[in-house]
Amino acid sequence: MGLSGKGALVTGAAGGIGRAIVARLRNAGAAVAVADRDAARIEAEVRLAGDLLDGAYADGLPNAAAAALGRLDILVNNAGVITRGPVTETSDADWTLSVGVNVEAPFRICRAAIPLMAEGGGGAIVNVASCWGLRPGPNHALYCMTKAALASLTQCMGMDHAHQGIRVNAVCPNEVDTPMLRSGFAKRGFDPDNAVAELGKTVPLGRIARPDDIADVVLFLISDAARYMCGSLVEVNGGKPVG
Ligand SMILES: NC(=O)c1ccc[n+]([C@@H]2O[C@H](COP(=O)([O-])OP(=O)(O)OC[C@H]3O[C@@H](n4cnc5c(N)ncnc54)[C@H](O)[C@@H]3O)[C@@H](O)[C@H]2O)c1
Repeated sequence: MGLSGKGALVTGAAGGIGRAIVARLRNAGAAVAVADRDAARIEAEVRLAGDLLDGAYADGLPNAAAAALGRLDILVNNAGVITRGPVTETSDADWTLSVGVNVEAPFRICRAAIPLMAEGGGGAIVNVASCWGLRPGPNHALYCMTKAALASLTQCMGMDHAHQGIRVNAVCPNEVDTPMLRSGFAKRGFDPDNAVAELGKTVPLGRIARPDDIADVVLFLISDAARYMCGSLVEVNGGKPVG
């Protein structure tokens, strides 16, 4: 897949899925600006460290990426946080964090990126949502709600900006073997290796996803092979339903 000459911005680039997306984009020839709280150790053309809860930082990311790379054709809103528990166990801080990172930041970044992409003749945006935003699972009310919001925003933007040559789609993974998943197991007192192996037995394909399983679908959605896809929510789940 040839992406040489293209400029890309990836958020959450230091995380499990983010790293895999960045590596694939660069392998395909794109120049990549990476965003995360700590971006120092990520191999990339441009590092834009900051906190996505800072509205001015999120608003400014697309322009900063375009200024540094010369153009912006690709955006992957991958950063995300997971908050566990029902609404009755959800604090104001949980709300601010989840809505801020999972919904408000992608909204701000897309709002700033779309005009830049349109000026450059079009582009592709992929949002990393979740199967749990399409069909909610138990005890993750805020996570499910914020990923549902991101999925809906993706469908709306997919319709509203297609005429500008901008395709907006989302990947919706089920469980992926990343620090997000492993730290959740550790917090609940489980051995992460055992827990990942046990969880794999619940997946029809026999294992939970690796970050590259998700990154490959992100790259497909960015590529010209997905040229007629706008506003699609693509589940990547090994056959495992939410529940
Ligand atoms: N791992 C899974 O099982 C799974 C399943 C479905 C969807 N997802 C989604 O995939 C995406 C990537 O998740 P991951 O599993 O790679 O998680 P991860 O925790 O490994 O990576 C997430 C990254 O986002 C960054 N981030 C979080 N809050 C931030 C903030 N305020 N400012 C800047 N950066 C911030 C983190 O620093 C981290 O590097 C997320 O949107 C997540 O919701 C993950």
